[in-house]
Amino acid sequence: MYVFLIEGGVGLKGEVEVSGAKNAVLPLMAATIIHPGIYRIENVPQLTDVRTMSRLLETLGGRVELSGSSLSIDTRDLNNWTAPYEIVSTMRASVCVLGPLLARFGRAKVSYPGGCVIGTRPIDLHLKGMRALGAEIEMEDGYVVARGRLRGRRVFLQGNMGPTVLGTANVMMAAVGAEGETIIEGAACEPEVVELGRFLQKMGVEIEGLGSPRMVIRGGENLRETDHRVIPDRIEAGTFILAGVITGGEVRVKGVIREHLSALLDLLHTSGCFIEEGEDWVEVTRGERLYPLQVTTHPYPGFPTDLQAQMMVYLTTLPGISIVQERVFPDRFMHVAELLRMGARIHREGSRAFVIGETTLHGAPVMASDLRASAALVLAGLRAEGTTEVRRVYHIDRGYEKIEEKLSRLGARIRRVRE
Ligand code: UD1
Repeated sequence: MYVFLIEGGVGLKGEVEVSGAKNAVLPLMAATIIHPGIYRIENVPQLTDVRTMSRLLETLGGRVELSGSSLSIDTRDLNNWTAPYEIVSTMRASVCVLGPLLARFGRAKVSYPGGCVIGTRPIDLHLKGMRALGAEIEMEDGYVVARGRLRGRRVFLQGNMGPTVLGTANVMMAAVGAEGETIIEGAACEPEVVELGRFLQKMGVEIEGLGSPRMVIRGGENLRETDHRVIPDRIEAGTFILAGVITGGEVRVKGVIREHLSALLDLLHTSGCFIEEGEDWVEVTRGERLYPLQVTTHPYPGFPTDLQAQMMVYLTTLPGISIVQERVFPDRFMHVAELLRMGARIHREGSRAFVIGETTLHGAPVMASDLRASAALVLAGLRAEGTTEVRRVYHIDRGYEKIEEKLSRLGARIRRVRE
């Protein structure tokens, strides 16, 4: 297993280019199941999660080739509709093959994903959506077994915790195989959902209301294969922006879509940072006087839960008491215990955390627990005095392309070494 060794205390400087969005490319890959064809997807990040989804498509009988950032997927000869436990248990996003398999074959068998460190993460809304479209669903030996001819219906997809991103994606893709019109209410509005909608539109699907909570989808008769270029990863972009302000550096983050970053930039501005921006880049620098923040995670366009851990590291560098409220995954605080080991002062109460700053962070051995928490520990290591050893970096490799190379080019002293 690999660890990152980080010598902190260097203000990062320079330009960094953002890769394609992990959470956009995974549903697009699943969408290629719907209609037999050869698809080309560009700007694909080289990540473990992309390799896992490729493996899943191959298990279903597809052919997948990744060369650099170009992905070619041939789904003409798919002959299997089972997503096995061995794959789904390593990546929850595998569950979004359920809708496409139902759309293509009228049946699907997908291992029920387990919980993960950020919470229990049910899929009841995904299943509610499939049932509403007419699928019969049973549980057999830990698998969701779905079958049936789908018909367009009205589906209300919002649960107690708000809309669901992958649930919306799953039902959109199932709706392509349904006869007639499907109306999804309470749909997620994340850019990754919009990206999937655009991909489906290029495949010949009629969709109205994309990016709003009410979408109308008309199942396609005349579907076709398509090519597509993936949008930049807004969470990777946010992580590099935060790396810049946490280390007191000057980092220009390039290849971004500015409006995807508004919630983060607004908060950084409120805390006293300076923001410069061009057509596809942003540069944020620390101001002379900084103020504590109140950060609440929300569905898009609110502040994303996937940046909460990284933001918390920034909050340790602000004077006064900042408050974090986690409204999407109320238990997503695994990073807190590790940050405390580095000298942060954080007090957690249920789904809230109070961060008392400004604190001097000290290097320590710390353990990555999930993808975004690990990114936060790397950011803390870049700020800390002394050496930080981040263990279990395979979590980071699921979602950040060559993060240590990108950070090194900005001047960070970070090395990947074998444990
Ligand atoms: C996606 C992202 C993940 C991000 C999350 C929230 C991918 C691959 N993953 O995960 O990085 O953190 O959106 O922006 O795109 N819920 C239910 N029932 C369901 C489904 C969800 O109660 O059937 C709840 C969840 O427990 C959570 C909330 O709804 O509290 C939002 O989760 P959801 O949007 O579904 O997250 P994912 O799509 O799994």
